[in-house]
This record gives sequence, structure tokens and C-alpha cells, in this order.
Amino acid sequence: MGLKDKLTELKKNALEEINNAKDLKKINDIRVNVLGKKGPITEVLRGMRDLPKEERPNVGSFANKVRDELSSAISERKERIEIIKTSKRLEEEKIDVTLPGVPVKTGQPHIIMQVIDQIEKLFLGMGYQVVDGPEIEEDHYNFEMMNLPKDHPARDMQDTFYITDKFLMRTQTSPVQARTMEKHDFSKGPLKMISPGKVYRRDTDDATHSHQFHQIEGLVIDKNITMADLKGTLQLIARTVFGKEREIRLRPSYFPFTEPSVEVDVSCFKCSGEGCSVCKHTGWIEVLGAGMVHPNVLKMSGIDADVYGGFAFGLGPDRFAMLKYGVDDIREFYLNDMRFLKQFSQRG
Ligand code: DAH
Repeated sequence: MGLKDKLTELKKNALEEINNAKDLKKINDIRVNVLGKKGPITEVLRGMRDLPKEERPNVGSFANKVRDELSSAISERKERIEIIKTSKRLEEEKIDVTLPGVPVKTGQPHIIMQVIDQIEKLFLGMGYQVVDGPEIEEDHYNFEMMNLPKDHPARDMQDTFYITDKFLMRTQTSPVQARTMEKHDFSKGPLKMISPGKVYRRDTDDATHSHQFHQIEGLVIDKNITMADLKGTLQLIARTVFGKEREIRLRPSYFPFTEPSVEVDVSCFKCSGEGCSVCKHTGWIEVLGAGMVHPNVLKMSGIDADVYGGFAFGLGPDRFAMLKYGVDDIREFYLNDMRFLKQFSQRG
């Protein structure tokens, strides 16, 4: 067999092998075997030495052509194998985007925070500032500045956890009143603030007591503030939280930091005043304490009580939430039982 025939035969076999190759390793082996230094083409080219001179260019270019053809057949096949591999992978990795997704569990604010948010929104809308105060408070602010000197009997109602003689867990958000008044610059306008937060009492936990609960303090100081301003504000709170039809009534009461002081009742949202178990058949529910800021409190915070005056109120978001949602045990709010808390989803 002449060299050309040998090459043709070799090409035929090699092409067949190339086209049957299924993976990159196989195609690489073929390349090394067929085109490599020890391969048959090199062998043929080496055999050209024995050919007559005039035949050499002819056979030589034929051999080169065969080598080029095989070389591009190998490249093509290699490319093809890669494409098949990729499409196989794509096939495997295919996802069905029309399948229903896995629901993402999102949380929600705690029921107490929902009540606080609602009241914050109401007051922010009326230009009040929302102020934070420390939960570890000085006796000075928690009591003294609130007109409760050392031996004042009203301190008994608010026993708490003392950290040192000077520091205690605050029993009320009222000290934020003093802290805010001290800093306020009246040349910039009246003082209007609310201050929500946690408070502490040395109480044994039961259905209506918790050693930790929440309050929202409210304070307005300006010239010419009257009890009518206080009443209007309280009515707004009652109607925002308990419904548009609610009325309020004020009963005389006592707080050391207000004079006069009032206890605020809201008309029963359950029976609208006819009498039911929620309002204990009185038609009214006690919801918060308030009053006109005591001149002593103003003076202690450096405010001229002959020029300025104002009102204050303190309400309990825990109590509001209990009334509004019919929760009969305050401890539920602090047990973190998701079955309980989930009932108050804002998303309904
Ligand atoms: N600090 C009072 C308490 O914890 C609540 C309170 C009553 C706050 C009347 C006030 C107020 O600002 O005017 O019992």
C-alpha cells in the first residue's frame, strides 16, 4: 500500500474514532495517539525519506492536509462534547419557576409594641417628640424630681428593685418628664413629648401584676395650657385606641406630681355603657392617670411656674391591650408563647 493510501485509511479510522468519542479524556487520548510524535502520521512522514525526491512534496502536503483535517475534527468534536456536557448540566439544574414557593415566615411587632406604635403615630401627628429615658434611673429623677421626697408615703405604692442607694429600676416613665423639662429651651416653642418604655415594680406576678410592664408618659408645657387641653387630648387617645364613639370622664384623684390629678375612665367599648363584665356593670373603664403639672415639679426642673404650666398623663399599654383584646392575664404578654402572640397579627 502506498503512503497516500495508508494515510487515507488512517484518516478514515481516526475520524470514526473521533466521532464516537464520548468524553474529553477519550478525545485527548485520540489526539495524542494520532497526531503525537509517536503517532502514525509522524511515522508516515518519517517514511518519506525512502520515497523518490519528486514524490515527496506531493505526499508531504497530503500528509499535512490529513493532519489538519484530523486536528480540526478533534477540535470540533471536543467543542461538541463540551456543548453536550453543558446542556446536560443545564438540564440537570433546571428548576421549575412555576412551582409554588416556600412561604417566608415573617415576624410581627409584639402586641404591646403595636399599641405603643399606634399611640406614637397619633402624637407624632400632633407635633410631639418621642423621648427615651433610662430604665436604670436615679432615685433623684424617679422620685425626688417628681415631688416624692425621701419619706413621702406615696413611695410605698411604687416599691422597686434598688441597684444601689442612688440607682433603681424606674417605677414609672414620669422621670422622663423632669429629664426633658431640664433640657427644654422654651424660646424654641412649647414642650410636647411622649415617652414610652418599660417600668418595674417589686410586685409578685399574678393575673393583673407584673414586675415589669410598660407605660407611656405624656407631657405638654407652655403658657396658657388648661384642663380643657388635657381633656381633649385624653379623648383623642380613647377614641384612637378604643373606637370613635368613646366618651371619657374624669374623676378626682391623687398623684404627687400633678395638681389637680384625675383618673380617666372611658365609656365601655364592649357594651357602650349598658353594663357588662368588662366594665363591671358600670359602663365605664378606668384607663389612665393624668393631671395638671404640679408647680413644685416645674420649679425643680428650672421652669417659672408663674409663667408656664401644663398637663401630664401616664397610661399603660399592657392594660390597654388587655382591655382591647380581652386578655385576662398580663403574664401572657411576657411568656413568649407564639400561639398566644400570633393571634394579634397585624396582617389579620
Ligand atoms: N406615673 C404614674 C404611675 O405610675 C402614672 C401617671 C399618673 C403619670 C398621672 C402621669 C400623670 O404623668 O399625670 O402610677
